[in-house]
Amino acid sequence: MTTALITGTTAGIGAAFAGRLAADGHNLVLVARDEKRLREQAADLHDRHGVEADVLVADLSEDDGIAAVEARLKDRTHPVDLLVNNAGFGNRARYLEVPIADELRMLKLHCEAVLRLTSAGAGTMRDRGRGGVINVASLAAFFPRGTYGASKAWVVQFTQGAAKDLASSGVRLMALCPGFVRTEFHARAGIKDTSVPSWMWLDPDRLVTAALKDFARGKSLSIPDPRYKAMSSLAKLAPRSALSSISSKVGRPPAKG
Ligand SMILES: NC(=O)c1ccc[n+]([C@@H]2O[C@H](COP(=O)([O-])OP(=O)(O)OC[C@H]3O[C@@H](n4cnc5c(N)ncnc54)[C@H](OP(=O)(O)O)[C@@H]3O)[C@@H](O)[C@H]2O)c1
Repeated sequence: MTTALITGTTAGIGAAFAGRLAADGHNLVLVARDEKRLREQAADLHDRHGVEADVLVADLSEDDGIAAVEARLKDRTHPVDLLVNNAGFGNRARYLEVPIADELRMLKLHCEAVLRLTSAGAGTMRDRGRGGVINVASLAAFFPRGTYGASKAWVVQFTQGAAKDLASSGVRLMALCPGFVRTEFHARAGIKDTSVPSWMWLDPDRLVTAALKDFARGKSLSIPDPRYKAMSSLAKLAPRSALSSISSKVGRPPAKG
């Protein structure tokens, strides 16, 4: 039996990863801030799939929270075989309307926590000669979309670079770039999702199935839907001005001027 540590499991994509990996027989370490939800989830996964599900309560936008998860990833007596860095959030407002403290919290969670946890996990995995890391980025990585898009672009570049550096070590890394997914993400950010056409929404369970297939194939970048794959290819060719215009229209509040 192998062990997977997933961050942000109490909702959305992280919950879908936890459910799918438990169904496949992996023991789990579930990480998020809401202890009650985590404990209920752990009991449910244990009852349904017979796996061990440990709970690690941590706020990954705080040093103490990151350090607690780093310590778990470095524990060689209970090795983690698969790390999924998934926890994340969006901000409703645009640049200069978002308080700087919230921008910094986002960079801490999306970049610093991902860097430190990947390094803690991959370092231990490299010593064992096997393991994997999936870092959840976003299709926003390919569009000019404020600190959110910039932080996710960093996740993609960092993960693909690390994947190349560790190619012969037995440790595989993959950045996952979903488009719009039906989760708690938009409600938590206070974003009305009515500007997003219904055909653009992905189901979290299907997304995770496709992502794990890409991971098993050894991809370092996964964009699990053909429509979004086409969009990311277009984004590489289109002028930045056109990308800014598309990015402003879909899934964002109007600019204040
Ligand atoms: N939904 C989309 O359309 C979409 C698209 C592209 C990429 N993504 C990315 O996918 C990832 C998961 O998002 P989701 O859509 O599943 O969102 P979600 O439904 O809102 O779930 C977010 C999860 O992250 C946890 N979390 C948030 N802040 C945290 C913190 N400071 N420390 C620890 N855990 C924290 C939350 O749990 P607690 O509140 O219990 O801590 C929750 O379990 C994010 O990285 C997001 O950027 C989402």
